[in-house]
Amino acid sequence: MDLSTKYSEGVNSWETVIFLYNSALKEVNTKLEILNDEFRHIHRYNPIEYIKYRIKTPESIVKKLKRNGYESTISNMVSHVNDIAGIRVVCSFTSDIYRLAEMIGKQNDLTVVSVKDYIKHPKDSGYKSYHMLVTVPIFLSKGIEDTKVEIQIRTIAMDFWASLEHKIYYKFEGNAPGYISRDLRECAEIVSKLDAKMLSLNEAILQAREEEELLQKSGGL
Ligand code: GTP
Ligand code: MG
Repeated sequence: MDLSTKYSEGVNSWETVIFLYNSALKEVNTKLEILNDEFRHIHRYNPIEYIKYRIKTPESIVKKLKRNGYESTISNMVSHVNDIAGIRVVCSFTSDIYRLAEMIGKQNDLTVVSVKDYIKHPKDSGYKSYHMLVTVPIFLSKGIEDTKVEIQIRTIAMDFWASLEHKIYYKFEGNAPGYISRDLRECAEIVSKLDAKMLSLNEAILQAREEEELLQKSGGL
């Protein structure tokens, strides 16, 4: 069985491409769920609050290709649109994001193609999120196809901000009045402060729990 041959020559129809991206989403989603379960098993809490995923719509793919000066062909879409398969992972705390990103990076069969850390380097809009572009091998009867998935990891608060900003962006077609952009940037600062505060509160809770357990253990001796 020649699974080492790349199957790319066969990926020439819309149905095949969408099938591949759907399979890649399933693979990455399962990996994330397993990481979450294992983490819960060891540390007794979930780093992941919820996961959302989607396949980009044909209209949106064509729009992006056009915007970047490419003709609408299957080959251009596979080469130049990196977020056809997208997964959004929402965590409670910023520390969970980096922990998760590290665990994803360690998965032998995932290749991390690029990382954009918009938490350490937020966009001018105030947007924050941790983006990873990975490829996952999809094993088909005729060979392996490495398929791209964009993973966005963010906190609940960052997600709340991003969905509102997205709505506003669409409403004003990218030209929101100055006061709205300013308010959004201010909200982004509040989000950062909230995330930092919630993280330190959680750390205090964990520490208190540890001390209580130590006390119980020593009392039980
Ligand atoms: P796109 O052409 O938008 O995909 O950008 P890109 O290829 O340069 O990648 P980038 O990592 O900047 O953005 C990828 C995705 O992140 C977007 O499709 C959005 O889902 C999200 N994103 C990026 N910037 C913003 C932003 O300012 N606001 C919101 N709400 N989402 C954003
Ligand atoms: Mg995009």
